[in-house]
Amino acid sequence: MRAELRAPTPDATAALGAVVAPHLLPGDVVSLAGPLGAGKTRFVQGLAAGLGVEGRVASPTFVLVRRHRGRLPLLHCDAYRLERVGDLVTLDDDVLAPDVVTCVEWGDAVAAALPATRLDVTLTPVAADVAVATAAPVAPRDVLLVAHGSAWADRWPALAADLTAAVTTPDGTEVGA
Ligand SMILES: Nc1ncnc2c1ncn2[C@@H]1O[C@H](COP(=O)(O)OP(=O)(O)OP(=O)(O)O)[C@@H](O)[C@H]1O
Ligand SMILES: [Mg+2]
Repeated sequence: MRAELRAPTPDATAALGAVVAPHLLPGDVVSLAGPLGAGKTRFVQGLAAGLGVEGRVASPTFVLVRRHRGRLPLLHCDAYRLERVGDLVTLDDDVLAPDVVTCVEWGDAVAAALPATRLDVTLTPVAADVAVATAAPVAPRDVLLVAHGSAWADRWPALAADLTAAVTTPDGTEVGA
């Protein structure tokens, strides 16, 4: 279960997060990967908005975990500075809890601590020189979504359809490729 899309702008990246949100169930884990500044937080901001979270969804880079209230509780974690993989679950009792949605930036670094059932989102700046692309305020990202586990099997066709529908925005901007 995988979808490859292209998000030309930060808003397009957030829009993809918003597309994912209505498909999320309690206990879901969304693992985000991609280099510094790839757009992981931007994606989670859109996902949070899609869950009905009000107010600012800031990067958890320094506090390591932020909690938000939406249709489902959202735990937004950053694993970049964790010393040990297992430290993820010590950040907050509700990280990976069965009644919340947990989003983990740099989730690939702590994959061993994540459940096998999860949605992996990988953001890759599109440019020969990634350093230039990540420094630009607006530059395209390739967005790869891969769903793992039978818990996603029933939901995947609808999510894939919604992602495909997001390919063209009303102003004609191409979101997916
Ligand atoms: N297509 C795009 N999608 C997402 N962000 C983009 C895009 N183009 C440019 N940007 C910019 O890249 C930056 C992405 O920042 P963001 O904090 O979301 O990345 P991150 O992957 O969470 O970074 P970090 O590794 O520090 O956690 C923002 O400044 C955003 O405006
Ligand atoms: Mg971030």
